[in-house]
Amino acid sequence: MKGLILAGGFATRLRPLSCSKPKLLFPLVGIPLVDRMAAWFARGGVTEVILAVNHLSDKLRVEVSRKKLDTKTVLSVEETPLGTGGPVSLARPILNKDDPLIVANGDVISDIDLRGLITSHVRSGAEATIALVSADDPRPFGLATLDANDRIIGFEEKSETIQSPGWINAGVYALNPKVIAMIPHGRPVSLEREIFPTLASQGKMRSWKHMGFWYDIGKIPDYVIANRQLLQRAEFRETANAETGMLANIRQPSYVGRNSTIEDGAKLGPYTILSQRVSVKRGAEASETIVFEQTSLGENCMIEDSLIGEGVTVGKEVRIGKGSIIAGQVVIPDRAVIRPGSVILN
Ligand code: GDD
Ligand code: MG
Repeated sequence: MKGLILAGGFATRLRPLSCSKPKLLFPLVGIPLVDRMAAWFARGGVTEVILAVNHLSDKLRVEVSRKKLDTKTVLSVEETPLGTGGPVSLARPILNKDDPLIVANGDVISDIDLRGLITSHVRSGAEATIALVSADDPRPFGLATLDANDRIIGFEEKSETIQSPGWINAGVYALNPKVIAMIPHGRPVSLEREIFPTLASQGKMRSWKHMGFWYDIGKIPDYVIANRQLLQRAEFRETANAETGMLANIRQPSYVGRNSTIEDGAKLGPYTILSQRVSVKRGAEASETIVFEQTSLGENCMIEDSLIGEGVTVGKEVRIGKGSIIAGQVVIPDRAVIRPGSVILN
């Protein structure tokens, strides 16, 4: 069975970290989202995944070709953004004619039981099955209305009016070839605004209620929350051949990614997540901070509750105040003081 990840768009809500890095390469507890999604697809029985991209597609192509992902992956590149439906229609020539396609938003991490969803989809005879999660405030999401048999009878994207708890679209679908054929070709199409409401009104859409974990990491605060909460799950913490100095002090929960080095006297945590190949020098301290790959934290620097992009050099004795974001490749000179809440661009 094939899958497709919607990974285009401009990820404006993840700026400035997304200026140099596509969302799918953002580390989630130290490992890129695309690796984690490929593993999730593979567990669900999906063997080939199409990455539907536009923004920064070259970077993604290079990175993905270097990786050993758990599924085969191919890139489908739009010249102009086609929304959430257009990329599915664009991929038609490379889809299986008789199988449903599994579509996933490229900014969602969950333990949705994909096998269960697919089995239920096939058994029910629905044309589309979408995973739903409950939300206290459905306004930022797509809201589904269900009948007593969990059939979806209404779908409204970003409803302004309904503020009471409800079942929202989790951004994971099984779509039959008939549904894919309904998507207008060659122009931007929103599955959520154009296709789902029609299918729901025709009674052709079923739901798969998900009770496990689920995060949309498409906004900075949500990305941070997802990392912190997932850090506490055993299956996210299996690592890693990091080198830790004898006198380094790591307060849990924290995560040290592969091929990172931590020198003597460094203090990390709690809630500090280092991606791969991070180097932490003597006496450096970082608490509640997420550090992207290949970044170096200089001697005796002090960082609190911040996000540090990839390839950043933090100089000696630098202070970075709470709530700061440092974009990829920035060099912070020795002894610089970054005030709380700063955003440092490259
Ligand atoms: N290839 C491609 N091209 N992908 C796109 C494009 C495009 O033009 N536009 C958006 N995407 C991708 C985004 O990268 C993201 O992975 C996914 O489509 C959904 O778009 P978002 O912009 O993140 O939508 P949202 O988070 O506001 O709402 C969506 O997700 C919610 C769950 O997180 C909707 O699907 C909601 O119904 C849903 O509840
Ligand atoms: Mg999103």
